Amino acid sequence: MPVTRDARPRRYLMCPPTYFTVAYEINPWMHQDVPTDTELAVRQWEELKKTYDELGHEVELIEPIPGLPDMVYAANGAVMGDGVVYSAKFTYPQRQPEGPAYEKWFADAGFPTVTATEINEGEGDILTVGELVFAGTGFRTSLASHLELQEAIGKPVISMHLVDPRFYHLDTAMMVLSDDDIAYYPEAFSDGSRRVLERLFPDALIATEADAEVLGLNGVSDGKNVIHNPRATALAAALAERGYNPIGIDTSELLKGGGGAKCCTLEIRA
Ligand code: ARG
Repeated sequence: MPVTRDARPRRYLMCPPTYFTVAYEINPWMHQDVPTDTELAVRQWEELKKTYDELGHEVELIEPIPGLPDMVYAANGAVMGDGVVYSAKFTYPQRQPEGPAYEKWFADAGFPTVTATEINEGEGDILTVGELVFAGTGFRTSLASHLELQEAIGKPVISMHLVDPRFYHLDTAMMVLSDDDIAYYPEAFSDGSRRVLERLFPDALIATEADAEVLGLNGVSDGKNVIHNPRATALAAALAERGYNPIGIDTSELLKGGGGAKCCTLEIRA
């Protein structure tokens, strides 16, 4: 008998991919010589947003800025603890203006913000599972930011060492399913980090390489409904088996920039 799962209504911040393209290469998924179709990206993104609307989640929008083609990946824009925003400070110069742009959105919305002095890429590398916060490092987010984050939000931050460049952000290697359940791809982590995950989540869903390779773990769960790349078929079956409702949403165009549904979604934790 699968476990009964409960959805909790969420509040998300998203950014339309109006100016999306691959104008530079900062992760192994990006290839400037592969053409992108911005209109298709917009249609796929709208489908994702519509799905959140239909599930009863509240979606806020930030205005896209010309010249910032990766701004659609809202997850990187900041991270929130309970009511407090810790701003992003991007690794690569091409994305650096996004940090202040997202921080301004939160400040204008009335949230207290802590401006990061250490490099971190928001919810791309920082995932909340119940009372615990997992922070990736190895490719983008610095180890020093993990402590700064902990001071900002007052929740325990657990460092995770990422070792495979295809899974350069924590949200490409691990997916939060509920307040006490996750899915992850073990090979994306150092041996020690993997042992930490095994210890904390002995019953976690272990993703296959085929699922991880299509960024299947870059999904969004509300506790019951899990939005994921439809190409991650084994993952979808495993989710259904565990009592979740997997919903495949095709974001193939945004995968050309190295992101999926989760990358496009920043949770507002008020
Ligand atoms: N092109 C973007 C980058 O490399 C993709 C970001 C994907 N976002 C994420 N949350 N994993 O920075």
